[in-house]
Amino acid sequence: MRTAQACILTLAVAVAWAGASLFAQHDTAADIEDGGRVFQNTCANCHGPDGDQIAGIDLGRGQFRRPMSDQDLIQIIRNGIPGTPMPAGNFSEEQAARVVAYLRSVAASKRSDTAVGDASRGHALFEGKGACLSCHRVNGNGSRLGPDLTNLGQLRRFVDLERSLLDPDAEVLGQNRFYRVVSKDGVTTTGRLLNLDTFTVQMIDSREQLRSFVKSDLREHGFIEKSPMPSYKDKLTAQELADLVSYLVSLKGKATP
Ligand code: HEC
Ligand code: HEC
Repeated sequence: MRTAQACILTLAVAVAWAGASLFAQHDTAADIEDGGRVFQNTCANCHGPDGDQIAGIDLGRGQFRRPMSDQDLIQIIRNGIPGTPMPAGNFSEEQAARVVAYLRSVAASKRSDTAVGDASRGHALFEGKGACLSCHRVNGNGSRLGPDLTNLGQLRRFVDLERSLLDPDAEVLGQNRFYRVVSKDGVTTTGRLLNLDTFTVQMIDSREQLRSFVKSDLREHGFIEKSPMPSYKDKLTAQELADLVSYLVSLKGKATP
């Protein structure tokens, strides 16, 4: 019960802090950028690049061990916390306020993120309703048509993954672009390009078969600009999207051939 109350209190403090505007009227983009530089050069050494590496403290989400106003924060940044490893910094009031402005802007951008995702629900979606395995492969399961996603979480950031699902055409990585050939008798085949040399084209077609074509037998051939990956924009709720992205972020295994 006590922990539940403490949790609610922390949350309330966090929300109030992220929304506080004590200094907001003075924050310019340049202030925030400057604060960000100080943060990454100084604070990140101990607090981590996202500010969440010290237990119980998540600077980028406005979560603290003690209740904290902007003025308290500025005090701590300038004077440290005596008797703890949190050092005093050689900062003016204005410099410290810029670090606070930076942290508030980070907190605000996180708050506007979609719902908090659940990776295990995302996993179920991936294999069930989402039918992602019909094109993708994870840990040796699924299709070779689209890219193997086994270690995707090591390669891509959260925002990039979200965009891949909502707007797949926005950015298709070179190695993922699809190829289309039309034979002289008019048969079209599309697939993932494996190899292209002076005389031949090799690709994996939509039935996962390795196909090889001699260019002189083709009427036309070339990359397809549009991604074969469907957009999930209107097919998933915000919660489902968040769950799926959480699952994708958790994929950090080694790709199997
Ligand atoms: C040398 C490592 C180190 C550096 C550098 C550092 N901190 Fe800390 N900081 C800590 C530690 C450790 C604590 C936890 C102190 C405690 O309460 O025991 C802490 C605590 C804090 C707290 C209090 C959190 C709370 O919940 O009470 C704030 C705020 C904070 N740091 C902000 C910053 C900012 C902003 C910077 C950069 C200007 C920074 N720190 C630089 C190690 C560091
Ligand atoms: C019809 C086949 C197909 C289906 C179904 C499909 N994808 Fe894709 N997906 C692709 C292809 C092809 C690409 C590579 C081209 C591109 O990036 O758009 C891709 C790319 C991606 C990427 C970007 C990979 C990278 O390396 O950046 C992600 C993430 C992704 N898909 C996730 C999913 C998820 C999650 C689902 C299920 C909800 C899904 N896909 C369903 C074909 C598909």
